[in-house]
Amino acid sequence: MEKLLISGPSRLEGEVRISGSKNSALPILAASLLSEGTVRISNLPHLNDVTTMIDLLNCLGVELLIDEKLGIEIHAAKIDEFTAPYELVKTMRASILVLGPLLAHFGQARVSFPGGCAIGSRPVDLHLRGLEALGATIKIDGGYIEASCENRLRGAHIFLDKVTVGGTENILMAATLAEGRTIIENAAREPEVVDLAHFLVAMGAKIEGIGSATLIIDGVEKLGDCDYKVMPDRIEAGTFLVAAAATRGRVKVKDVDPSSLESVLAKLEEAGATLEVGSDWISLDMEGRKPKAVDIHTAPYPAFPTDMQAQFTAMNSVAEGVSTVVETIFENRLIQVHEMNRMGAEIKIEGNTAFIVGTEMLTGAPVMATDLRASASLVIAGLCAQGDTLVDRIYHIDRGYECIEEKMQLLGARIRRVPD
Ligand code: UD1
Repeated sequence: MEKLLISGPSRLEGEVRISGSKNSALPILAASLLSEGTVRISNLPHLNDVTTMIDLLNCLGVELLIDEKLGIEIHAAKIDEFTAPYELVKTMRASILVLGPLLAHFGQARVSFPGGCAIGSRPVDLHLRGLEALGATIKIDGGYIEASCENRLRGAHIFLDKVTVGGTENILMAATLAEGRTIIENAAREPEVVDLAHFLVAMGAKIEGIGSATLIIDGVEKLGDCDYKVMPDRIEAGTFLVAAAATRGRVKVKDVDPSSLESVLAKLEEAGATLEVGSDWISLDMEGRKPKAVDIHTAPYPAFPTDMQAQFTAMNSVAEGVSTVVETIFENRLIQVHEMNRMGAEIKIEGNTAFIVGTEMLTGAPVMATDLRASASLVIAGLCAQGDTLVDRIYHIDRGYECIEEKMQLLGARIRRVPD
């Protein structure tokens, strides 16, 4: 298994282009199953998760044409399979996102039940309850969710008990083809949900309240052609900015949507970074200074994203002062802390809170990546550490970061992929 070898410490300096958003690309690809026409999607990131979603569409019998830049043309009017098999779902939980579109367009869907994962139990009860409210019959058989409906789904008033990104997306997609009006209350407002809604509208869906906690969908009989460019990845952009802050560096991230990063930029400013923001770029300069420790409390958008928590924990471990990081979204998302402590970080965990005392310097060590964002935080820790850090299980990082080592190298990091 390949590993990433980081020889630190280094200071990140330079410019980097940000790829299309993974968490937007996945639901958008799934939503293409709703269309009767030709759907063209561009700015898809080259990531294992995106390839898995394309494989899934392929195995459902969708016609796909992919160009060398991973622009994709999709024809899903006729498919001959309605099952998302265990082999694909176990590698990517987001496969559950085909459930709503398959059901709404074809009246049937069979999706392997996603299990828990390293960061927590991650149930899908709210997805299923929402689809049932739209008239679906759902049963669980042999580890599969089997959903069906007679004729069309029908609009309903749905209150989501908890803010769920995937749950909002599944119900929203299904509602676009339901008969009548659906209202989703306490909907997730994440920019990726907004991007999906814009994609659905581009295909002909009728949605009001986009970007708010109340989505109103008037079902249409069919959705058609569209050309759509996936939004930039705010988490990738945030990761490079934090890596620069932690290494006392200076970077400009390009092809980004600064408005999607407000809570992250506010924390970087609090950490002492000088920021400049353009229409599609952000520059950060630490002017050689050590970052100041910042307290973090994760919560649904527009509050601070759980997907940036691990990277800030890494920065705080080498920052001036003490800090607390409270993780409220996933119960087990502080596990990377134990690996960071092996590098000399001083972090204690009590319940869902990490108490961090900033240290002068970390020391390189062999460490194990446990999930996607945790692995990014170990790369940041490696950049801040004296000596060699060898990050194992980097398949996690390849799920969410396009060409991480090439982009980091461009910014001056000494990082390379090594065989086992
Ligand atoms: C998405 C993102 C992930 C991000 C997360 C929170 C994708 C592909 N992934 O994951 O990167 O970290 O949002 O911003 O977009 N929950 C339930 N029942 C449900 C659904 C969710 O209890 O039916 C709980 C989850 O266990 C979790 C919380 O709700 O505690 C939020 O999860 P959710 O927003 O659904 O996360 P995902 O869509 O899986």
